Amino acid sequence: MLLSVFCVFHLFLTSTAAAASAFLSAAQSVTDCTSCLDFLGTLREIAREGTDPFIANLTSFCVSLHAEDPDVCTGIIAREGPILAHDLRQINTSGPTALRLCDALFGQCVDRPVRPFTVRFPKPAPAHPKVFTSRGRPTVRVVHISDVHIDRMYTVGAEANCTKSICCREFDDSPAVPTVPAGPNGNVRCDPPVTLADSMLAEVERLHPRFSRLTGDGTCARRISWAL
Ligand SMILES: *[C@@H]1O[C@H](CO)[C@@H](O)[C@H](O)[C@H]1NC(C)=O
Ligand SMILES: *[C@@H]1O[C@H](CO)[C@@H](O)[C@H](O)[C@H]1NC(C)=O
Ligand SMILES: *[C@@H]1O[C@H](CO)[C@@H](O)[C@H](O)[C@H]1NC(C)=O
Repeated sequence: MLLSVFCVFHLFLTSTAAAASAFLSAAQSVTDCTSCLDFLGTLREIAREGTDPFIANLTSFCVSLHAEDPDVCTGIIAREGPILAHDLRQINTSGPTALRLCDALFGQCVDRPVRPFTVRFPKPAPAHPKVFTSRGRPTVRVVHISDVHIDRMYTVGAEANCTKSICCREFDDSPAVPTVPAGPNGNVRCDPPVTLADSMLAEVERLHPRFSRLTGDGTCARRISWAL
């Protein structure tokens, strides 16, 4: 997800920490559409040096500005940097894609009209679509569990009030004494522990002993994207 890198960029701009660099002053000079397109050009120059320098530069700025914890900066930019560098090398930094990027990143160039696009379907919709009528069979009971985000590394007693997007894990920089210890059944700032998922499944079984379908989809510990 590029969005997480965009968030880091946004933090660069809102951070009050001072860092003397061409990159930072270019980022801070983004005040309108033109300066935003210029900044994309600056980013592209770094990307053209290679993906590794691009990642090294961005990580270094992220860390020095305390935009995120160092492990989050390193992980997120290592993960998202290559595709961002690739895109920057490809796009015309004054073309329509660059305008959209400036809109998403900086809220600049937003007044551009949406380009109309016609989607062609392979065949027209049926003139007389089939009408479904109940034959009176028993209702099929379905349990749909979605986006459980189970965190197998959830640790009871770990810091739940951490500075990362997901807490309740033992990180290298975790405090020795947590301000808010993670409880046994989860915390709103964390992905749920396995015990909570097990408990939910037990309750589903108790409430719906005749359920006939169990589908699961969604993500596992997605918010820890910087460390995957
Ligand atoms: C930033 O990228 C340049 C190459 O464009 C490289 O020489 C420089 O070492 C990088 N800076 C950091 C902090 O990685
Ligand atoms: C880049 O986009 C601008 C604005 O749409 C256009 O004038 C220019 O020709 C494009 N350049 C290339 C190399 O496609
Ligand atoms: C959470 O941590 C912050 C510092 O990061 C602290 O200011 C705040 O008091 C803590 N919250 C609780 C409930 O302890």
